[in-house]
Amino acid sequence: MKTRESRILESARHSLARGLVVAAVCSAVIGDVDARDSSMPSATELQEVVDEAHAKFKDLKDGKNADYIPILATIPSELFAVVIVTRDGEVYAAGDADYAFAIESVSKPFNASLVMQEQGPRAVYEKIGVEPTGLPFNSKIAIELHDERSVNPLVNAGAIASVSMVKAGTEEERWSKVHGNLNDFAGAELPLLDEVYESEYKTSWSNRAIANLLYNYGRLYAEPEESMRVYTKMCSVGVTTKQLATMGATLANGGVNPVTGKRVLDEEHVPELLALMMTAGFYDESGEWSYTAGLPAKTGVGGGIVAIVPGEMAIAAFSPRLNEAGNSVRALNAINHISSTLRLSVFDGR
Ligand code: DON
Repeated sequence: MKTRESRILESARHSLARGLVVAAVCSAVIGDVDARDSSMPSATELQEVVDEAHAKFKDLKDGKNADYIPILATIPSELFAVVIVTRDGEVYAAGDADYAFAIESVSKPFNASLVMQEQGPRAVYEKIGVEPTGLPFNSKIAIELHDERSVNPLVNAGAIASVSMVKAGTEEERWSKVHGNLNDFAGAELPLLDEVYESEYKTSWSNRAIANLLYNYGRLYAEPEESMRVYTKMCSVGVTTKQLATMGATLANGGVNPVTGKRVLDEEHVPELLALMMTAGFYDESGEWSYTAGLPAKTGVGGGIVAIVPGEMAIAAFSPRLNEAGNSVRALNAINHISSTLRLSVFDGR
């Protein structure tokens, strides 16, 4: 049994550790913005590196389609696209860049952004949490292990909680705000893929357990089944790799969509969102991803990944075969290749 003092000390230690991680990531992110303006690769270099990444990994067959959502197992595994969109909205693409796939967990940081925009980053910190779990994206153990319960907005628990936090009087309004926000990031009307939604909602027993657990702990802020439905719809939105790269470029551009000019997130909150993506965007592979690519990013079991080069560009890639952690094998290799070729890591001060 912990004493009150030891709890306070433990909580202070956690807060300090959190503060240090966020401060380190933010300073790497912010410090690089000015330096990067002068080091932006040319249009030719960008198209070359995109083509090269596509050619280098197009024959890689490792991993397999997600199948716990039955329809994802039927998506052609050979699809592969790599796209860069710069903060000015320039597009460099290779492969199946106009194929619309299920956004799945790549939607999570964009919805966390909506909550930050509505209620401020402190609300995300207090009502969801900002710690990486070091566990799989759908972990129930993480909910029991952490006092925050939902842990962070990029795992399923925290993402369902962030959907429940969106201010709405009805389920329709909740969905409309969640969907509208994704559209604003993409600068396009993104479709709801009905077949994906049906397939996922019918088999969502694990997420249903998570939603109910959170509700039990007072860490879900709307009715569980409503939160689940809207969360599942959010994951079932269709996005092309070009649109996904534009969503990322909006964050690279300080929260303003470079194509439509619409501000989606206040510039001052972008570093907090990117810190979450750096520490938890690849789930239990976030350490390895930071160590290799060094970019804030988010993956999804639909096979999409988006990575942000703050102040410069976003790189998106898509291919359905996933590794054990649920991250697309070709997409992560392609983005990693581009990051190391162009030396894009936010930790690279050279
Ligand atoms: O809730 C789920 O399980 C899916 N809708 C999303 C999971 C996901 O994309 C994890 N990412 N790699």
